[in-house]
Amino acid sequence: MNIALLGYGKMGKIIEKIATDRKHTIVLKIDYDNQHELTVENLKKADAVIEFTTPGSVLSNIQHCFEANVPIVIGTTGWYEHLPEVKQQCLQNNNTLLYASNFSVGVNIFFYVNRVLAKLMNNYPYYDVQVEEIHHTQKLDAPSGTAITIAEGIIENLDTKKDWVNVLTADGDDASDDNIKNDQLLIESFRINSVPGTHTVIYDSEVDVIEFKHTAHNRNGFALGAVLAAEWVHDKKGFFSVEEMFDFGT
Ligand SMILES: NC(=O)c1ccc[n+]([C@@H]2O[C@H](COP(=O)([O-])OP(=O)(O)OC[C@H]3O[C@@H](n4cnc5c(N)ncnc54)[C@H](O)[C@@H]3O)[C@@H](O)[C@H]2O)c1
Repeated sequence: MNIALLGYGKMGKIIEKIATDRKHTIVLKIDYDNQHELTVENLKKADAVIEFTTPGSVLSNIQHCFEANVPIVIGTTGWYEHLPEVKQQCLQNNNTLLYASNFSVGVNIFFYVNRVLAKLMNNYPYYDVQVEEIHHTQKLDAPSGTAITIAEGIIENLDTKKDWVNVLTADGDDASDDNIKNDQLLIESFRINSVPGTHTVIYDSEVDVIEFKHTAHNRNGFALGAVLAAEWVHDKKGFFSVEEMFDFGT
């Protein structure tokens, strides 16, 4: 397959290696300095685009891919308030888009079990729940897109939580939960040097604590998942989330 990379940062570079190991050809690499090469003509050389840039550039990159009618796989997070309008445009124009807050197989298994666990915990209301996420200090968005997906999975399945609130906490501090209502789910975000991504769901009671945790050792799992997504979606039409690719039956 011919693949175009939008964003050649930490993720773009690993995706290039994994894609070429899987015998794909990188036909276009766009980063901040060569955006003038992002033309419909150049995009049309690709069977699929993989986009890992910034929340501020993802929407215009989507428009370029829609215009060139080339399938786009999006890893960038921090833009999900625009999902409804992007979905509508994608379906109206018969384009192809797949997005994921997290492409790793392990995290997608975690998402699935998190939903099952939240449903089970309806029977045990003396446990309160919160979500913690830790990422490297260059991360632009908080909470992480992955933490939002985890929180949504809990809110959809646990009757006691209605929405989520985020507290970005300096290393070593405790989050102040003074203003958090009982029906709000706290997502506490920590930013610590060079952590690729750690997410924990914590059910705490007076007698014990249950912690359900995913720790990424490196970024390779995200990159492999993005390449698998490009392979899966390149000959499809429509608007997809990565859950449809993994299909655990939820
Ligand atoms: N979905 C997932 O599985 C997953 C995993 C890791 C990271 N991410 C997300 O992916 C995004 C990128 O992560 P990263 O760690 O590679 O960040 P990074 O900062 O290392 O790389 C981003 C790159 O995008 C480039 N860029 C900025 N504006 C651009 C534009 N208009 N066109 C093309 N390139 C542009 C920057 O110069 C930089 O090289 C972030 O939003 C991050 O949260 C998602």
